[in-house]
Amino acid sequence: MKLSRGEEVWLIASFGMILIFMFITGYQTFALGMGPPSHQETIDPQQVDETAPFDNPGVKKIADNEYEVVMTLQLFNFTPSEIEVPAGATVHFILTSKDVTHGFQVADTNINAMVMPGYIQKITQTFDESGSYLVLCNEYCGAGHQAMSTTIKVTE
Ligand code: CUA
Repeated sequence: MKLSRGEEVWLIASFGMILIFMFITGYQTFALGMGPPSHQETIDPQQVDETAPFDNPGVKKIADNEYEVVMTLQLFNFTPSEIEVPAGATVHFILTSKDVTHGFQVADTNINAMVMPGYIQKITQTFDESGSYLVLCNEYCGAGHQAMSTTIKVTE
């Protein structure tokens, strides 16, 4: 079969585009490190209380307008139970579970994460609006699952 000149041009152009996209994706992944995380941070779930930073859960100011919230999840609550951060601040949540898989969902935000024993979950969030944000466990974790909730208070 003989290809017309126009067909040849388009065939070459489309193969060229595929090669260019593959090159760009590969470059971003390997050279720029933009690939999805492939090695999660782990922790011994039996030693959470003794392992930093979880030996001292709470809200910590780490820079100007930047906070770190270290939290443990366990049957059937969140530690610390009181969290207060200012609106507009960058908030880094560092989470782990002390027993079974729990969920960390914050109403009115995009936060919806699984928190598994043995793994450290990290989420960064800025709360633009002040108010009280409901935090729910959204992974069934046992008899007290329905009651597993807390709030994040975002101040002006
Ligand atoms: Cu914890 Cu459901």
